[in-house]
Amino acid sequence: MADSTDTKSSNQMWGGRFASGPDAIMEEINASIGFDKKLFAQDIRGSIAHATMLAHQGIISADDKDKIVAGLNTILSEIESGNFEFSRKLEDIHMNVEARLATLIGPAAGRLHTARSRNDQVALDFRLWVKEELQKTEQLLTSLIAAFLDRAEEHAETVMPGFTHLQTAQPVTFGHHCMAYVEMFGRDRSRVRHAIEHLDESPIGAAALAGTGYPIDRHMTAKALGFREPTRNSIDTVSDRDFAIEFLSIAAIAGMHLSRLAEEIVIWSTPQFGFVRLSDAFSTGSSIMPQKKNPDAAELVRAKTGRINGSLVALLTIMKGLPLAYSKDMQEDKEQVFDAAESLELAISAMTGMVRDMTINTARMKAAAGSGYSTATDLADWLVREAGLPFRDAHHVTGRAVALAESKSCDLAELPLADLQAINAAITDKVYDVLTVEASVASRKSFGGTAPSEVRKQIAYWRARN
Ligand code: ARG
Repeated sequence: MADSTDTKSSNQMWGGRFASGPDAIMEEINASIGFDKKLFAQDIRGSIAHATMLAHQGIISADDKDKIVAGLNTILSEIESGNFEFSRKLEDIHMNVEARLATLIGPAAGRLHTARSRNDQVALDFRLWVKEELQKTEQLLTSLIAAFLDRAEEHAETVMPGFTHLQTAQPVTFGHHCMAYVEMFGRDRSRVRHAIEHLDESPIGAAALAGTGYPIDRHMTAKALGFREPTRNSIDTVSDRDFAIEFLSIAAIAGMHLSRLAEEIVIWSTPQFGFVRLSDAFSTGSSIMPQKKNPDAAELVRAKTGRINGSLVALLTIMKGLPLAYSKDMQEDKEQVFDAAESLELAISAMTGMVRDMTINTARMKAAAGSGYSTATDLADWLVREAGLPFRDAHHVTGRAVALAESKSCDLAELPLADLQAINAAITDKVYDVLTVEASVASRKSFGGTAPSEVRKQIAYWRARN
């Protein structure tokens, strides 16, 4: 089990003040290697950039730098190929890598930690990780948006009921409904892009909290690691986790959007609605009821959102009482972010699949669109436009027409002209042109409205914007 790194404890690395190693409970509560090993690639990248800068500045020799870089690259391939024994005695990823480096290259390894602390090191590793995760999220959101744009194009003319209070309100197009999600996920993507800009500052060189007396070049390490510039305040640098909280906030908002979509898919795929049929890939059968097709993936997306919210609240709570600068509480930031990132990636990917694969039952949508007197507003608008009634009077006349249709158990379009004229003499047979759901949606040409012509404009806008 144990390899050479295991025999060395981090206790030795703190120095001689502690006579014996931490007891088992201390080791258990203190160690983060179980989860922060995920940061190995970022840790090694950061150390290579740091060592290269130290040599460039004449703080360590070129020879030591070469040994350090070669050793770090060996460690990288050991970890990548699964040939690295992580040790809990060595606490975290930083000490695990450094201890292994000492075994590989000897005393030169001890020079790597010059002008650096684990405080700026972990801030760097975690920031790099979150930045990469944000970039991944941006791509996943772009795929989801693309899936919605394709469905919107395909269904620009498909009529469905639009709801308020989950009661049939006015007919809309399914394409327009899809484009609502494009707007939501488009905002999420903007937030992601903004967060990348926001965190794009390099923490390394802040050292423990006060900076360092060595003549380091923080602009050089920032550039080497792909950051725009170094952070400006060393105290803030080691005590800041805003970038992680921003990631979690974005994840929570995107999760909320995904969960609303999931909820709609759950409702739409019931036999009662029957608007969509999920592909077998994203649903399951029941072990006892053979007729069932359950929207499990959508339900799990809805549930993952709860986990993500939990992570956001957890990290806000962890941070809220901490005095500047670093406190060990901050070690608890990572699992929250890792868990939320995994949930978010899965939720976006599953939704992209569901949106692409689901079959749209256009006949059911259209039938439902016409029920519930959904074109009542169109009748009122016709009375305003064609008969010159004030909207309030038109609203009243329409209310009477709806009541009459209700008493006859028929749709507005099925009322005989004589009945309508008995309510208001100005009504002519031209009114039937606006009582169909197709005419209703086609008339809503206001900017951002549901008319197929408007929906196509919005699709073109988003396609160009990507
Ligand atoms: N494992 C630690 C963390 O995740 C690294 C920083 C430790 N710094 C310290 N001063 N003990 O936060």
